[in-house]
Amino acid sequence: MLRELQLRDFRCFASIAAEFSPGFNFIVGANGQGKTTLLEAACVLLRLQSQRSSSLAPAVRVGQRSFVVSGHVGEHRLQFYYRALRRKVAFDGVEQRDQAEYLRLVRVVSFASHDLELIRGPAEMRRRYLDFIGTQAEARYRPVLRAYERALRSRNALLKSPHPRPRELAAYTEPLVRAGTSLREMRAALVRRLAPFAEASHRAISGGHENLSLEYAPGSEEDFAAQLARTRTEEERLRLTIVGPHRDDLRLQVEAMPAAQFASEGQQRTTALALKLAQAQVFAEDTATPPLLLVDDIFGELDAARRNALLAHLPNESQKLVTATALDWRAGDWGGPVLELTDGEIRRRDK
Ligand SMILES: Nc1ncnc2c1ncn2[C@@H]1O[C@H](COP(=O)(O)OP(=O)(O)OP(=O)(O)O)[C@@H](O)[C@H]1O
Ligand SMILES: [Mg+2]
Repeated sequence: MLRELQLRDFRCFASIAAEFSPGFNFIVGANGQGKTTLLEAACVLLRLQSQRSSSLAPAVRVGQRSFVVSGHVGEHRLQFYYRALRRKVAFDGVEQRDQAEYLRLVRVVSFASHDLELIRGPAEMRRRYLDFIGTQAEARYRPVLRAYERALRSRNALLKSPHPRPRELAAYTEPLVRAGTSLREMRAALVRRLAPFAEASHRAISGGHENLSLEYAPGSEEDFAAQLARTRTEEERLRLTIVGPHRDDLRLQVEAMPAAQFASEGQQRTTALALKLAQAQVFAEDTATPPLLLVDDIFGELDAARRNALLAHLPNESQKLVTATALDWRAGDWGGPVLELTDGEIRRRDK
């Protein structure tokens, strides 16, 4: 578990430290006090990427050129130093060249209000969800994904050139097919693992009333090479690769109807939560260390009963950092400390 976290020049904080307990940790504060920032720092320290933005540059405190996040996971000390064009990662005081070992330590699942985009947003959101899980779950995932993206970029650049030669195109197609076929297999396997968990969670949060179905909707056929050959004329007309994993999607249905068009606000929120809970369950299956859960102010549209029901559905054994602007809705004893965030300072109460 993450025992403590220190930030230097990270977003609104010049310097701050927080101590966490196992199980629930509640972080309370008014808007703009830095609650999301604390969760982001935890994610950056453990995953070397932010759950809120694709680049780390905006996390450097305005007027500064670098930030440092550090902390303890169990007995190990982790440190991450960032400045433009330079990153340093240290494990127990030793700088790490290969980050694979470091990244194996703790997996992270982030719940946030923008998760609704998973249901309503474009397919890219659902691919990012799959990729965020895939890269944490399997060492092979990131290199295959990068190889596919590279091959796609080069092939599209060639298709845009005035007269792409067939021989040249074939040379660009080969790596695309190789990486694309692996990526399709890995994503299909991932969705097969996620689906039963997501479907069960959706049923549980809706009090047994609703059925979710989650399926992989691949953007390419099993014989990717043959499909590319068939779409050649169309590609020449549009000057880009029109089939492949870059067109993948997830098919989400609530009560047998497409969730984006037909599900209510509350149903969509439930589906988004179910997808994130499924992610946590897949990680819990894979490793002895349960994932750290970051739950950022997702209570907005939920009534008190649902807020408490949601907390009850979070995996028991996981450590949880839960932010909110107030805690008066909590029913029962969730245990865990309350960290009050005001004017850049943290006050810890043990109830
Ligand atoms: N790079 C930066 N440098 C300095 N301040 C920043 C930087 N990035 C963000 N901030 C400031 O950090 C503050 C805290 O933001 P954060 O999103 O963590 O607040 P929050 O407590 O989660 O608020 P809310 O309840 O509204 O979600 C904001 O006032 C924001 O303007
Ligand atoms: Mg916030």
